Parts: sequence; structure tokens; C-alpha cells
Amino acid sequence: MITMSAPGKLMLFGEHAVVFGEPCIVTAVDQRLSVTAEKNSRISINAPQVKETKFVDRAVHAFFSKYSKNSRVRLTISSQFSHQVGFGSSSAVTVATLRALSLFFNVPMSDREIFDVAYHVTLDIQGVGSGFDIAAATYGGSLYFKKGGSTIDPLSLSGIPLVVGYTGVKADTPNLVREVAEKQKKYPEKVNKIFIAIGKLVEEARTRMQAGEWERVGKLMDFNQEYLRDLGVSSEKLEALIGAAKKAGAWGAKLSGAGGGDCMIALAPSDKREAIEKGIAKAGGEVIAVSPNAGGVRVEP
Ligand code: MEV
Repeated sequence: MITMSAPGKLMLFGEHAVVFGEPCIVTAVDQRLSVTAEKNSRISINAPQVKETKFVDRAVHAFFSKYSKNSRVRLTISSQFSHQVGFGSSSAVTVATLRALSLFFNVPMSDREIFDVAYHVTLDIQGVGSGFDIAAATYGGSLYFKKGGSTIDPLSLSGIPLVVGYTGVKADTPNLVREVAEKQKKYPEKVNKIFIAIGKLVEEARTRMQAGEWERVGKLMDFNQEYLRDLGVSSEKLEALIGAAKKAGAWGAKLSGAGGGDCMIALAPSDKREAIEKGIAKAGGEVIAVSPNAGGVRVEP
């Protein structure tokens, strides 16, 4: 029997623009999803906490069609986070399943192979996506990332003073990505300008984060949020939580992910952290305690 766990993720900078070729920055968070593989007479998938098993099914299919003919295994999935919050349960379950199968059947797969197979599995199902969430689940830490993994650079950070607020609303990521794509088709000049500007912010954020210049990084989050607003992916609830965090003294705040719901993030000076968390809760958000920079997919004892 073997158990593998993969982390959830939060997008720090660059959502949407990354789908169109700009870089983004993602961090893995210490809420994890686990897949246990054990001997069985046939293949069976036991996922009581997961709404649907299509990502596991596809990952299993991809693994057995390429790497092994022996498909006698029972897979059991459990998660520390709900698929509702936008931490990337689909990517975490895909990566953890592939890693669990590769170890259980003794088939060596590099991290790059895991990333590539998992990215194709999620693309087959969702049709759209940059793969940043797959990279976070596979490699962990904080990453400077470009679509399809054409660049995956780890950032060297000692910590991120992050506060996370959940809106209570589940974002429909594939639809939001399609809506932005439609906007880009309709107003290419305006939307491409926004993407390029976001890409520039990401470049600066990469340097400033590694230098620990969090006040400036916060400002960059504010700028990024303005562009996301212009793309039309923010929501009243997100704005309420972002506004509350800023009012309580955050260095900066923005939505994280596709928008429309899921989570917002804020950068908090340590003496303002409590007030920011209270402000987010008062504005109707749920503060989620997570540590960024978590490890990538790994064996659980
Ligand atoms: C969604 O969490 C982030 C997007 O950039 C989509 C993607 O990169 O796959 C909107």
C-alpha cells in the first residue's frame, strides 16, 4: 500500500494572461489531497469526498495505456480541502493519482513526465487551461510559470505574508476562461494590452518577492486586481473582501484564480494581520488558514 499527497495552490499573479502566453506566479499551499493505492483483484476507485471521479478515471486510463498492463489496484482519495474553494482539487488528484500509480507499479516517471501526462488529462477534460495548477501540485513551492510548462522556475522565498479569504462562491473556471477569450477576440487591442501589462507586473513581482519587498508586492497585487476588474472577472463579493482587507491595512489584495468567486488574497503586515482577517470575516468571507510554499507531490508515511 502506498499513499501520495499533492498540495493545493493559489495563483499570486497573472491569472488569465497566462492562458495567452504571459507568465504567472503560483504558490502551493499546505492543504493536501491524498491518493492511496493498494492491492485489489481489479481496478476500483473509492472517492467518497470527491464530487466526480473523471480526473482520476482519465489519469488511470492514461497511465495504464502507456505504462503498465497490470490494472489491479484500488485507489482511495481523501482531501483536506473542498473542491469548492478553488485550491485546484482536479490538478492535485490527477498528479497524486499518477504518482501513486507510478510508485505502486514501480514505473519510474520524472516530475516532467507527471506534469505532461497530468496536463494532457486536464486539457482533455476541460479543454482550456495553462497548467499552472498541475505544476504547483507536481513541484510545490512558489513558481514562475508559463503556459504548458514551457517555463517552470522555482522562486526562492523565505515566506509570504499571505491572508486568504474565501467568498463562499464556486468559480466556473472553464467558462470564465472562455469569456475572456471571447473578449479578446472582440477587442483584441484593448485586451492584449491588458495581458502585456499583467505580464510586466509578474516580472516585477518575481524580483520583488525574492527581495522580500512585500509592500511593493502588495501594490503590484492592487495593479493586477485593476486589470482583472477591466477584464470583467471580479465580482461584488470579491470586491467586498478585497476592500475590507485594504481598509484594515493590507499592503495589497486581489482575487486569486479565475475570478467570479473562489478566494481573494491579501498581503498583510504582521501587526495588521488580525484586523485584516476580522475585516474579511465581517465582509462575509471565510478566512482560510494556509501556509504557502508547500512541498509538491510526495509519499505520505
Ligand atoms: C484559473 O485558476 C487561472 C486561469 O489563469 C486559468 C489557467 O491558467 O488555467 C484563469
